[in-house]
Amino acid sequence: KSYVSIGLLGLGTVGSGVVQLIQNHQEELQHQVGCEVRVKSILVRNTDKERDIQIGQTFLTSNPDDILQDPDIDLVVEVIGGIEEAREHMIKAIQSGKHVVTANKDLIALHGPELLEAAAQNQVDLFYEASVGGGIPILRGLSEGLVSDRLKKVMGIVNGTTNYILTKMDEEGQSYEAALKKAQELGFAEADPTADVEGLDAARKMAILARLAFSTNVSLDDVEVEGISNLSLQDLHYGQKLGYTMKLIGIAQLDDQKVEVSVQPTFLATSHPLASVKNEYNAIYVKGEAVGETMFYGPGAGSLPTATAVMADVVAVIRNMRLGVNGKTVVAPRFKSVLKSPQE
Ligand code: NDP
Ligand code: HSE
Repeated sequence: KSYVSIGLLGLGTVGSGVVQLIQNHQEELQHQVGCEVRVKSILVRNTDKERDIQIGQTFLTSNPDDILQDPDIDLVVEVIGGIEEAREHMIKAIQSGKHVVTANKDLIALHGPELLEAAAQNQVDLFYEASVGGGIPILRGLSEGLVSDRLKKVMGIVNGTTNYILTKMDEEGQSYEAALKKAQELGFAEADPTADVEGLDAARKMAILARLAFSTNVSLDDVEVEGISNLSLQDLHYGQKLGYTMKLIGIAQLDDQKVEVSVQPTFLATSHPLASVKNEYNAIYVKGEAVGETMFYGPGAGSLPTATAVMADVVAVIRNMRLGVNGKTVVAPRFKSVLKSPQE
C-alpha cells in the first residue's frame, strides 16, 4: 500500500487535534515515514453533532466494528477515554492485528501490563506517549533517553487542569469553581473532572512514570493521593504572603529498594523551579545516578500539544511497519525482580 490507514476512536479535544495535525503536517509526516498517512474512519458517540473540524471524505461512524473489523485499517488511535469500552475496543483491535496508539492513562494505569502483553503476543505495537505530560515526550525520555541510568526520583506537576486552577486562583484571585469551568471549556479537564481535582489523574500518570523509571509494577492502589478540591483562596493567599506557591506535586522515588509514589498539594518556595510552571503546563524532574538532574517541561494538556505525542507514536508504529519489527519495540517497562514492589 502507498498509504497507512488510521481508524480514529474519538473526535473530541485530542481526536480533533490529531485530525488537524495530519491535515496540516502531511508533508512533514510523509517525509518522515515515506507514505501518505490517512484517517479513514472516525468513531464518535453522536454522528449528528455539529463540529468545528473539517473531516472531508473521512467516514464518521458510531459503530466501532466499522473500524475494528475493517481490514484496510492498519492502526487504531484510541482517544475516546473511559475504561471498559476503550479496553474492549483496544483488545479487539490488537486481536485483529491492528497497532494501537492511546492517550488513555486511566486504562494504561489500570490494565497497561496485560494490554502490553496482549500486544506483544499478537506482534502489534501499543504505544501511549500522550497518556502522561500531554505534549512532553516524557515516556520516551525515560524509556529511551535515560534507559542506561539508575533513576532515583521522578517528581513534578503532571495534571494540567489542577495547575491551571491553582495558577488562576493564586495569580488572579479567581474562584476554584470559575477556574475549573474555564479549564473544562479549554478542553484540559477529563470528561468527569473529579479525576483531575481529586488527584486521581495525576496518580495514574505517576504510576505509569514509576513503572518506566523503576522497572517495577506499581499499581494504582500503591499511590497515596490527595487532591485540591478542599483548598481555598485563603490557603493560597496565606502561602503567598510567606513566599510559597501551592502546586499539586507527584513524587515517585526509590527508598531502600522500595518505590514510593504519592500525589499531594504542596507549598513550594516561589524560587523553586516547579513554582514557575503555570496554567496547563507540566514539568517533570528526573534524578538519575549518572545523568544527575533533568527537567522535562511543556504543555501538559490541550488539543494540538497532545496530538503531537499521539503522532509521535503513530510515526513510531509506521517506521516499525517498514522494518517489520512491530510488537518488539514497545514503550513498556521491563520489570526486574531485584526491586521490591510497593506492597512488599
Ligand atoms: P473528549 O471528551 O473531548 O472527546 C471524546 C471523544 O470520544 C468524542 O468525540 C466522543 O464522541 C467520543 N466518545 C466518547 N465515548 C465514546 C463511546 N463510548 N463511543 C464512541 N465515541 C465515544 O475527550 P478528550 O479528547 O479530552 O480525551 C480523550 C482521551 O485523551 C482521554 O483518555 C483523556 O484522558 C486523554 N487525554 C486528554 C488530554 C486533553 O488535553 N484533553 C491530554 C492527554 C490525554 P462525541 O464527539 O460524539 O461526543
Ligand atoms: N485532564 C488531564 C490534565 C489531561 O488536565 O492534565 C491531560 O492528561
